[in-house]
Amino acid sequence: MSTRKTTEKKGTKMEKRRSLRIAVLTGGGDAQGLNAAIEGIVYRAEYGGHRVFGFIDGWKGLLEEQFKELRKETVRNSYSQGGTIIGTSRTNPVKDEETKEKAIKNFKELGFDAVIAIGGEDTLGAAAKLYEAGIPAVGIPKTIDHDVLETEYTIGFQTAVSIVADSIEKLATTAKSHRRIIVVEIMGRHSGWIALYGGLAGGANYILIPEVKPDIDDIVRVIKEKYGRGEQFAVIAVAEGVQLSEEDEKKVKVVDEYGHVKVGGVAEKLAKILQERTGYTAKHVVLGYLQRGGSPVAIDRTTPMLLGVKAVELVENGEFGKMVAMKGSKVVVVDLKKVSGGIKLVPKDLYEFARLFFD
Ligand code: F6P
Repeated sequence: MSTRKTTEKKGTKMEKRRSLRIAVLTGGGDAQGLNAAIEGIVYRAEYGGHRVFGFIDGWKGLLEEQFKELRKETVRNSYSQGGTIIGTSRTNPVKDEETKEKAIKNFKELGFDAVIAIGGEDTLGAAAKLYEAGIPAVGIPKTIDHDVLETEYTIGFQTAVSIVADSIEKLATTAKSHRRIIVVEIMGRHSGWIALYGGLAGGANYILIPEVKPDIDDIVRVIKEKYGRGEQFAVIAVAEGVQLSEEDEKKVKVVDEYGHVKVGGVAEKLAKILQERTGYTAKHVVLGYLQRGGSPVAIDRTTPMLLGVKAVELVENGEFGKMVAMKGSKVVVVDLKKVSGGIKLVPKDLYEFARLFFD
């Protein structure tokens, strides 16, 4: 007699559980890999006999009761598409008591068993507050900024780094042809992770990040030494959150055609300063939303799928107020409340490592 137990064909369905109605949303700036997380959620949910509903445009979908059912057939192969198939917004569902009450009321009236929030510190912070108010929430870390606490991975970061590295390499060839300095402005809000890794990977000759006070004299030194050894061009990576000193800001009244002082744009100001200090022509480029565009690189396909699967398992096990995260190659589970109210900054020693290559 066969000793093999008859079991369901692997990956079709598991033992019968109550069918859950799971809501999912993507909040904040979009990032490559969001759809891979959604696909992971839908596939694992259907494996467990559950249904998934996507809130349209992040927390706004909850407040306006706008959502649509997501099935395998509707999300299949979306893992490799950039952006988010359910849209996103920067709507804050807990911006005031009235809004928070409306979010809780809607969630209960819509009869969902849980919400999986995919976002950065703002979106996850809101999920933590709604969990404290009784909404069964689970978080997945997403932001190209890579600045979410308690995780070594956020959806979109590696793809943004690849885009920045590729852009810097492209800018180096035209800078070389014209013997120019090109200053590249890189996203990251108040952290310098994308500039640091994208700059290193792309071969930037100097990298400035918000975590470290700019040293214009040192940048000028590196540029002059480079030109002096016959390499008459330079690409300088600067994170958008870098603050130039008041003295430097005063020197660069960047004005438009009507004489109005332009605000923002650290790369434009830094290019002006470096041109004046070195005597070499300096231009600037703002990479902007290119860093959030296009399809995800491999890790921003596979890891989001894994995190999506894990998030559904937390929902099935009734583990709420948690965020799935990565520590090395391991998926871990952390408290959502530890994630909100702060951001992860580039540590000094990592910048000192990068500084070795400012050349
Ligand atoms: O948080 C991601 C991010 O791309 C930041 O790096 C950037 O400063 C911000 O979003 C831009 O926000 P928005 O898309 O609302 O202009």
